[in-house]
Amino acid sequence: DAPRRWALRGDLLDFTAAPAWGDVDATAVRFDRDHWLLIEDGRIVGRQAAEPDDTWVRKDHAGKLVLPGFIDTHVHCPQLDVIASYGTELLDWLQRYTFPAECAFADPTRSKRGAEVFLDALLTSGTTSAVVFPTVHKVSAEALFEGAAARAMRLVTGKVLMDRHAPDGLRDDVVQAQRDCIDLIDRFHGRGRNAFAVTVRFAPTSTPEQLAMAGALCRGDASLYMQTHVAENRAEVEWVAQLFPDARSYLDVYARVGLVHERAVLAHGIWLDDADRRLLADRGAQVAHCPSSNLFLGSGLFDWSGAPFNVSLASDVGGGTSLSLIRNMGDAYKVQAMRGERLTAWTALHAATRGAAEALRLGDEIGGLSVGQAADICVWDWAKGPVAEARDAVARELHERVFAWMTLADERNLAACYVAGQRRV
Ligand code: GUN
Ligand code: ZN
Repeated sequence: DAPRRWALRGDLLDFTAAPAWGDVDATAVRFDRDHWLLIEDGRIVGRQAAEPDDTWVRKDHAGKLVLPGFIDTHVHCPQLDVIASYGTELLDWLQRYTFPAECAFADPTRSKRGAEVFLDALLTSGTTSAVVFPTVHKVSAEALFEGAAARAMRLVTGKVLMDRHAPDGLRDDVVQAQRDCIDLIDRFHGRGRNAFAVTVRFAPTSTPEQLAMAGALCRGDASLYMQTHVAENRAEVEWVAQLFPDARSYLDVYARVGLVHERAVLAHGIWLDDADRRLLADRGAQVAHCPSSNLFLGSGLFDWSGAPFNVSLASDVGGGTSLSLIRNMGDAYKVQAMRGERLTAWTALHAATRGAAEALRLGDEIGGLSVGQAADICVWDWAKGPVAEARDAVARELHERVFAWMTLADERNLAACYVAGQRRV
């Protein structure tokens, strides 16, 4: 168990605002080399250059990079074993690999073990908060809530809603699904660090009646989150247009029932038009950008530079190929490079920390290293191995150094991970 009062030393890096696109000299970056964070009862209570006195237990991570824990805004717990599945695009990939894997989570033992392995894997990747898809089974959401509570992690999840176009054993119905959601909200939403998300898998797997029920849940309680997928793949967009001929767009299927609001997290958003993009901004919703998934499934190149709405960074494992948001930052840079754009380390890192926290309306609690915030803190080696060490040694300024880190580092660089002040890795 962690001491009540302790202090951590290292190179502190976080953000005081959103860095502007392309600005490598961003003033929004707060970098305090060789500083101390003071931690009491799981929260940050001070920051200082001077070594604290003997009433503080000291953990010396001098020379290492200290960041707020990452926030993965879109990831699938039951898809850990689907990661790295060969050869298909989204719709075929779902049928061939993903739905069969999710069927197994009907079993409570599988759900519990799956949640524990998954949450521990997030922590070893430096992710301390996440917005997570379980499966259609209520027990899979319960297992995640209970596993997160045991680790004191900030977690947003909710049972997946899907009542059509899915195999036997992976469909619910409107009445039972509504009952399950209400029960999960009563037992877990706002308890400790857990929050409930109305979780529509995507438009094709819900009937209009189920979408209406999901919208009614959101309209009835503005503190609920909503998570779904939107405009990920061209064949998917085509299919949605056929299923919902009277909707203006894919996004409109969600918007017209009340699912697009300031606590809505929509994954991908690659194939949106200008009206959709404007609507997301006006409603205060966010897109979870999933670069490794978009590359791996051949989905497309997300237009980040022109986005008027909040953009956070997400792994989308098992479509994504790594839980590490550092690896996903590296992939995000390459996606933008293919579009002729340049993603700064600041915009990437902000999207994985403060940007995600603010978009989730959790900016007071997570995503930074300010006094009053939860002590969700990761300590990183600046470089691991001879190539990265040599590159780090020749970096001349901070952006260059952090960019090389973001491009070369991964979960093996994690030296320590604290959640609410407790050491977990
Ligand atoms: N669209 C609907 N379901 C899924 C899923 O599980 N993963 C991804 N990447 N897209 C989806
Ligand atoms: Zn997904």
